Amino acid sequence: NNKITIAIDGFSSTGKSTIAKQLANQLGYVYVDSGAMYRAVTLYAMQNNLIGDAYFKEETLIEQLPTIDISFAFNKTLGFAEVFLNGVNVEKDIRTLEVSGFVSQVAAVPEVRKQLVDQQRKIGENKGVVMDGRDIGTVVFPNADLKLFMTASAETRAERRYNELIERGDEVDYQAVLKNVQERDYMDSNRKDSPLIKAKDAIEIDNSNMTIDEQFKVISNLVTKAI
Ligand code: C5P
Repeated sequence: NNKITIAIDGFSSTGKSTIAKQLANQLGYVYVDSGAMYRAVTLYAMQNNLIGDAYFKEETLIEQLPTIDISFAFNKTLGFAEVFLNGVNVEKDIRTLEVSGFVSQVAAVPEVRKQLVDQQRKIGENKGVVMDGRDIGTVVFPNADLKLFMTASAETRAERRYNELIERGDEVDYQAVLKNVQERDYMDSNRKDSPLIKAKDAIEIDNSNMTIDEQFKVISNLVTKAI
């Protein structure tokens, strides 16, 4: 078994999932979008009125954590695994700007992180996994064989996220998307538990001026060296 573990971290909308999916497909590895798991828990909190504009019932969410089941199922047509919340496909529902507005608060709760990190480690225990997130190279898989840290300017990132939301048919405002990207980056980088930081041994990739193909070439070379 010469399969490796690839950890991809970085700020929001830096193209982590794009490269992670490409690598997983090329290598025949499992791709895990850890952000989808935090988003699914956030959706649960929203559906159960545990979080809103002026409140966050953190204790109740913590109590209910054992009843929240997050799972993935590979979708052949899409070519990646979709996320399920208590058996319901929530892949679309977790990508809204509303969920993005609450997710960093939910992701800052240590009990939430513990449950999801345990699950992420189980999924990756046999290697052959590409996982993207904020703390994959620092906390989830500190011994990952290859660690990437993706960056791009805030404007580039907001534009990417804006185009994604518009393509899905969501009516969003560019300024609101930019504000959300900046707020999440601030909260994710400054929280106590598992803040977003570059692991010492991570390779930083700034893709502000790279096409998706250019990025894939650069990173494929790094993977070949790591295997
Ligand atoms: O990757 P994505 O932007 O979908 O992640 C959504 C949010 O989930 C992040 O802004 C962050 O608050 C949280 N997250 C995290 N740790 C991870 C992945 C995501 O805290 N490993």
